[in-house]
Parts: sequence; structure tokens; C-alpha cells
Amino acid sequence: MADKRRFELFAQFLTSHFPDARRVYDVAGGMGRLNEELTKLGRDVTTFDVRVKRLNVKYAERLFTLDEPCEADLVVGLHSDGATQLCLEYAAKHHIGFAVVPCCSENGTSYNPWRKHLLALASERGFTEHGEHVLPMAGRSRVVWGR
Ligand SMILES: C[S@@+](CC[C@H](N)C(=O)[O-])C[C@H]1O[C@@H](n2cnc3c(N)ncnc32)[C@H](O)[C@@H]1O
Repeated sequence: MADKRRFELFAQFLTSHFPDARRVYDVAGGMGRLNEELTKLGRDVTTFDVRVKRLNVKYAERLFTLDEPCEADLVVGLHSDGATQLCLEYAAKHHIGFAVVPCCSENGTSYNPWRKHLLALASERGFTEHGEHVLPMAGRSRVVWGR
């Protein structure tokens, strides 16, 4: 069971780490709980996912792809299943920041090699600043970020 504090903790990390990012794409945002927390902190957030049952937040009911027009300063993915590397690739394409909290690998490896792969990819894609941060919660709590 994923830690329910993840939305608030990730939102706090994002606003402190990317203070100038006003417009945020929340990829694979499920019901929109991260959107709700980021909105409380003054961000303009669009959640991309296909959940019918959801909160009253700005919501694009579709799967996010690399072709999505960019009107964001930051793209994020919290336990975003198959869309985690996509966030990084999208950010690289549009020269914006990204932050993801991976839960499972997309390349057949286990969790730790997958995190390392994302960090290496951030470097390869030209994010001059990138790194990891651990959210103070149980379960998959490591943020991989770049800008
Ligand atoms: C494990 S859930 C996490 C939801 C939410 N972020 C959370 O932490 O509770 C993964 C979500 O990823 C969504 N998803 C996977 N690929 C996606 C894509 N390309 N675009 C949008 N949503 C995607 C699924 O529909 C699902 O809601």
C-alpha cells in the first residue's frame, strides 16, 4: 500500500525545489490528489490520466504522450507506472524541469537499476542539474529530478 502522505510531501518538495515553476503537468495523476495539493500551494496544475472517478481539478482525460503541446514549466509523475521515463523525455524535448517518483521499472530491471537508469538518462539528455531526493515516507519514496 503506497503512503497516503505522498501527495503532500511531493507537492512540498516540488514547490521548494522548483520555486519558479508556476504551470505544472501532473502526468498519470490518478484522481488528482497531487494536483489538489499543488493547487493549494499556488500552482496551476493540469492532471493527465483516464480516471472517471476524480476530484474537481483541472483534468485532461487522456493518456499523456510526447506529442502533447507544452504549456508547462515542470512535468511531474508520482508512481506514474509506464509514464515515468516519458516525463523525463518530455521535459528534455521542451527544455523544462521534471521530477518523478518511480514505483516500478519500465525496462524489465528491478527498482534500483531503474532509478540509476533514469539518473543516467537525465545526464545524457542534458539536464545540467539532476539528482535524487528521498521523501520522508514509507514505500517508494525517491524522487529523480532534473532541470
Ligand atoms: C499507480 S497509479 C498512480 C496514480 C497517482 N499518481 C497516485 O500516486 O496515486 C498509475 C497511473 O498511471 C496512469 N498512466 C499510465 N500511463 C499514463 C499515461 N501515458 N498518461 C496518463 N496516465 C497514465 C494510469 O492510468 C494510473 O492511473
